[in-house]
Amino acid sequence: MTFSISLTVNGVRRNVELADPRVTLLDLLRERLDLTGTKKGCDRGQCGACTVLVGGRRINSCLALAISHDGADVLTIEGVARGNQLHPVQAAFIAHDGLQCGFCTPGQIMSAIGLIREGHAGDNPERVREAMSGNLCRCGAYAGITEAVLEAQKILATAEQRRSA
Ligand code: FES
Ligand code: FES
Repeated sequence: MTFSISLTVNGVRRNVELADPRVTLLDLLRERLDLTGTKKGCDRGQCGACTVLVGGRRINSCLALAISHDGADVLTIEGVARGNQLHPVQAAFIAHDGLQCGFCTPGQIMSAIGLIREGHAGDNPERVREAMSGNLCRCGAYAGITEAVLEAQKILATAEQRRSA
């Protein structure tokens, strides 16, 4: 028996047949859709490397069953840049050395985008650190990550103000 699901991933409708209802959203993205930017770190909800946005909210895709996300709107790291133009969060990570080996970086960036959308980032480094605490970095690039989130938050808020002026 197979299960058919249909998701929108990075703006593109994808239809997938699942032979096993236990397939996670992470494995579906990586192994069925070849979107390997989303990383598998712990595979048990403890590191945040697999963070993606579903309906604009950040989730650990290793804990999400793909079959439960039939019809969902998923954004992965592959979908955040516009052509050659990096997303402001990506650019800020580079500007502030928010990465070393880069393994955790896709998850950090997706989490940062989600956090900024939630409107909880503000300009308080402590709050940013706390709100990003589900994303671990073995290289300890936390100082740069926090600076990057703060700067990206500012840039996006200014852009938003200009749009609504
Ligand atoms: Fe999902 Fe670690 S791989 S939280
Ligand atoms: Fe290496 Fe975060 S940059 S794990």
